[in-house]
Amino acid sequence: MVCLGNICRSPLAQGILESKVDPDKVYIDSAGTAAYHVGNLPDERSIKVASKYGLDLRHQRARKFSVNDFDTFDYIYAMDSSNYQNILLLARNKKDEEKVQMILNEVYPNANKNVPDPYYGGTDGFEKVYKMLDDVCEIIARKL
Ligand code: 4NP
Repeated sequence: MVCLGNICRSPLAQGILESKVDPDKVYIDSAGTAAYHVGNLPDERSIKVASKYGLDLRHQRARKFSVNDFDTFDYIYAMDSSNYQNILLLARNKKDEEKVQMILNEVYPNANKNVPDPYYGGTDGFEKVYKMLDDVCEIIARKL
């Protein structure tokens, strides 16, 4: 799960998908394309909305997406088109490129919709992002 800062959207996506799969069978992590918040906890607004739905994100720490992630993961989900492009810039070959998808394309195929960045908005933005990610993670969990 990849966003820009790895403190708002992708930690939520990680926590939500983790709650829907068998942790012995599926390994999920998140990262940001930027390093601004490396080592930080998720944004307190993400922690809060997750806890409202029974999820604890406080074990997560932000990290930057790295080229090694193409070897570690089978699927790489970008939250928006900017993250998508920045991940693709690091791809070494076609196999790497094929792992990267816009996450909302799992709900709206080929529509290339963005999960909106809630960082500069209010708490209602986090609630909306939570619901979007909960819907898409349900589809991803069933596929996995
Ligand atoms: P995220 O949100 O990419 O969903 O983690 C953001 C977090 C931090 C910043 C931007 C977006 N920032 O500019 O610091």
